[in-house]
Amino acid sequence: MPPAASDSLSGRYERIIEQLIRLLTATTDPIARMATMAALLHHKNPHYFWTGFYRLQDGKLVVGPYQGPLACSILPEPNGICWACVRRGESVVVPDVHAFPGHVACDERSKSEIVVPVRNAEGRVVGVLDVDSDRLNAFGNVDQEALERIAAMVFVRRPA
Ligand code: SME
Repeated sequence: MPPAASDSLSGRYERIIEQLIRLLTATTDPIARMATMAALLHHKNPHYFWTGFYRLQDGKLVVGPYQGPLACSILPEPNGICWACVRRGESVVVPDVHAFPGHVACDERSKSEIVVPVRNAEGRVVGVLDVDSDRLNAFGNVDQEALERIAAMVFVRRPA
């Protein structure tokens, strides 16, 4: 029997986004919002192993709010998937991180990864939302579309 619509991945993301729309009205502070997003996403998604943000500061990517095992505090340019996302200005989905040249392994257990850009109110990339899985090929279009919608909510005045 196919899973009920409410059990599907897209249904789960819809519920997460609905919950975030309510939660994010509490404050426009981007760090508080990132922390709320990381906690909700991480604990609702069994295919997530590490969930968090890196913020661009003085030419470096500095770790922001996250959930999961201890991660690298600083990602120096140019290596890694997060920097590839910043340079391209678009999401990067990597089915096997060990096949990605220059991948930065903060935790050897990470096997696949998705990174989406976070833009400020002026549309400039100011960081990334990064999710790792301990499974190969864990992320697809449904994850990408949902995470892009969520990343776009960090700096909006009123989430909707
Ligand atoms: N793998 C990332 C580094 C950050 S961790 O995944 C938490 C990268 O290659 O940029």
